[in-house]
Order: sequence, then structure tokens, then C-alpha cells
Amino acid sequence: MVCIMSTSSISLPIHNKQSKKFAPANVPHAKKVYIRTFGCQMNVYDTGKMRALLEKDGYVATESMEEADLVIVNTCSIREKPELKVHSFLGEARKIKRFRDRPMTIAVSGCVAQQEGQKLLDRYRDLNLVFGPDAVSNIKTLVDATQTKKQVLDTDFLEEADYVFASELDPEAAQRVGAFVTIQKGCDNKCTFCIVPSTRGKEVSRPSAQIVDEVKRLVDEGVVEITLIGQNVNSYGLKVPSEKTFAQLLYAVAEVDGVERIRYTTSHPRDMGLDVIQAYRDLPQLTSYLHLPVQSGSSKILRRMKRYYKRERYLEVVEQLREARPDISLSTDFIIGFPSETEEDFELTMSLLEEVKFSSSFSFKYSQRPNTPALKLVDRDPVDPQVAGERLMRLQARQREIAQAEHELLEGSIQRVLVEGPAKHDQGVICGRTGTHKMVNFPGSITQVGQFVDVKITKGFANSLRGEQVFI
Ligand code: SAH
Ligand code: SF4
Ligand code: F3S
Repeated sequence: MVCIMSTSSISLPIHNKQSKKFAPANVPHAKKVYIRTFGCQMNVYDTGKMRALLEKDGYVATESMEEADLVIVNTCSIREKPELKVHSFLGEARKIKRFRDRPMTIAVSGCVAQQEGQKLLDRYRDLNLVFGPDAVSNIKTLVDATQTKKQVLDTDFLEEADYVFASELDPEAAQRVGAFVTIQKGCDNKCTFCIVPSTRGKEVSRPSAQIVDEVKRLVDEGVVEITLIGQNVNSYGLKVPSEKTFAQLLYAVAEVDGVERIRYTTSHPRDMGLDVIQAYRDLPQLTSYLHLPVQSGSSKILRRMKRYYKRERYLEVVEQLREARPDISLSTDFIIGFPSETEEDFELTMSLLEEVKFSSSFSFKYSQRPNTPALKLVDRDPVDPQVAGERLMRLQARQREIAQAEHELLEGSIQRVLVEGPAKHDQGVICGRTGTHKMVNFPGSITQVGQFVDVKITKGFANSLRGEQVFI
């Protein structure tokens, strides 16, 4: 595994170190599973749980689709482009299945599975299994069912009270420096552009005792950085009167011995309370980095997106965060070309970018999603895709300049870096993250993985930093 710069808000750089408990199995006759994951950290996490559950059932993970008995594609439908990936993937997998002499079970999971369900099975007659995110814990039974039934479908949502979070540790996550821990599933918001409420169902908070237990077990495996994940982590626990709030959960996780860094994603600006902001004063383990998706700088567009905050409120949260943690790095998401976005609305987004000076941002052209409320606005007030494309390019170009300037200012400074793994395509170079979540590449050895080292920054680029280790 190599360090990579995040190309979207969904990826976490990760890397291998020697596992204590999960030595790579080399069992020649074991059943083999190949899993391809698209989408956000929720999918990465679900893939880990599937891997853990299948390993308990005698499967061994493989990186080669050709040698797999079971092939799973864990899909994303947040925009049209990721959704389309399922079809090219299935083309690849079905071709292998057709031309080989052993059986292969092909399964589709995740958000496209939930969204398309039976339609996928009808379109691809040699597809064996389609199951949604709520069925992940049931994977063994579903795979078993494909032995007796030609096609199996499970896209039922569980009642909130019946939802169980799988407790098995992902064998691969346990080998890394940083790991995701899910704290909730689903989303109760109704942002008008978004498919997630219909693919992930109602929000359910995972019991805090289970979360802390998973954190402890990961730390026992050598993990030092925990990323708490959910679609709207700030609303954690609010529906369960006896449960901790999100801020209280942060304090509880920080108390676990061995947790060096804590991050979380994703935060909704509306729910960013003063108690969470206070945690940035109190908890040194909380990294000086926050991903806080704004979507647009225009309050008119935010209202039509049903985000329930205005531009001014977002800027106020940013100010409060910077007061609590002056060096905090912020990243965000933008949707460009949302229906009815005028040049003036877009300029408000550009001026917000200028005002906040995000360290990075993930920006996308608005993509029409099935059965979402914004489709009605598209009919009434569409934005020309070419205009949206030009706006997107302008925003991204300015973002690159802002990031480059911020990173150049770090030249000459010394940063504490948590080493994550070898740098991509660069022999003898390793990489890690600063406490502000910036990627630093510097000469070193992979034996340093998992260690904190001091690195003097020699060059700042738009997406990363270059440096050399110093001993102080
Ligand atoms: N729960 C998170 C967002 C999860 S989706 C939140 O509320 O912030 C990740 C990002 O995908 C969103 O922040 C948004 O910028 C983008 N996105 C979601 N739906 C989209 C759509 N229909 N078109 C374009 N971008 C979209
Ligand atoms: Fe989608 Fe909004 Fe929920 Fe985020 S908060 S997952 S954008 S509905
Ligand atoms: Fe994609 Fe589903 Fe995540 S739509 S972004 S995989 S919640």
C-alpha cells in the first residue's frame, strides 16, 4: 500500500505495517474473495467488515479477480460518473466468468445495489447477488443462498431498532497506521441534490460503548489514528436520550490509551455546535484539520439545497473554529451548477473560497440523481453544463493557487509527521501527514512507518509538501 494524495473527500491514506494477528493467509484450497470498492469511507469501512465476515467463513482475500471464487463490487451512486463504474466493472468480471472453467459468484453491494436492486439482476442474468448497505452483516447467509438460487436480492432496510453494527475487525484496517470506525449509519437530512438518504436509510447511532471498544481493539493492533465516520457525525446520539453527544464521544475516544490522532468525517455545518468547537481547545489528539462541506457560497442556493444554514453562519463556524484552534486546516466540498445558480451566485462561492482560504476542496458539477427533490428545480431552472464546466475550472484553478501559496509559506518550518508508508513511484521516499493533515514526502525507510518524526519542509506544492527529516 502506498501513500496517495486524496483525490476526493472519500479517501484516507493508509499503509501497511506488520500485523500481529492477521498474517497473510496462504491457503491453496481456500475459497478466495475479490472486493473492489468505489465511493466514500462508509463503503471502505463496509468492505472491511465484509472481508472480516467472509474470512471468518473460510474465505481468503485476493487481489486478483481471475483467481477469485467470489467477486464483490461495492458501489457508489453519489453522482452519475461513479454510478456508471459498476457497469464497466461488471463487464470485466462477467467476461472472466464466461471464459473460465470454474464457477464464479458475482455480487453487487453498496449504494447502486440499493438504488437499482432487481433492475441490475434483470439486466445481468449471470449476476448472482445484489444487496444493499443494511445487508452487509448478513453477507455469509446471502452468499450461501447463491448456491441454491440463481439470483439473490436483499435491499430491505432494517428497522432502526434492529440495525446491528458488525463488530468484526477488518483484518486489513488493523494492519494500518490509521483506521475508520463507523459511529452512525444513514442520514436523516434531505439535501435536495443527494441520493444518500434513499440508499443508506434512516440515521442510526452506534452505541458509544461499542465504538470505544472497537477503537481499543484497533489500538491493540497498533493503529494510532482513528477517523470516526458517518454522513452527519455532528448529529450523533441526538435521537437516543441516554447516548453521548458527538462532543462527548470525542472525549471518550481521546481517553483511550494509545490514540494519538482523532479525525472525523463528515460534519454538517448546521450541526457544528460550540461543544465540538470546545473539544479543539481541550483535546490535543484532535487533529488540526476539518472537512466541512459548504456546497455553495450563495445563501439562495443553500436554501434550495435545503442545507439549513446561510453563508454567514458557515463563516461564523469557521471563525469559531479558528479561534479555538488557530492552525486548523479546512477542506470543503462544492457543488457547481446547481439548478438556478447564476453568475452572481457563483461569484459568492468564489468569494467564500477567497475568504476562508481552504487548504483543499473537492468540487463537482451538479449531477442529477434519481428521485431527488432537486430534479424539479432542474426542469424549471437548469444551468447550461458548459457554463457549469467553465465555473468549475475557474474554482479549481483558484483553489490550486490558494493551496500552493499556503504550502509555500510552510517552507522552512518543522512539522511533526506521522509516517504512513512508501511514497508512490519514488524509491527511498516515504510519506506521512502533519497534524494539519498535509501530505509530506521525504527520504526515509519503511521501518519508520507508524512513527512520529520531525520533518523540515523544503518545498510546498499545491497538493503536498516535500521535506527532510531533522533530529531535534
Ligand atoms: N454527508 C456529507 C456529504 C456526503 S456526499 C455532507 O452532508 O456534507 C459527498 C459530497 O458529494 C457532498 O458534499 C457533495 O458536495 C457531493 N454531492 C452529493 N450529491 C451530489 C450531486 N447530486 N451532484 C454533485 N455532487 C454531489
Ligand atoms: Fe446527503 Fe445531506 Fe445527508 Fe450529506 S447531510 S449525506 S449531503 S442528505
Ligand atoms: Fe457513495 Fe453511498 Fe458513500 S452514494 S458517497 S458510497 S454513502
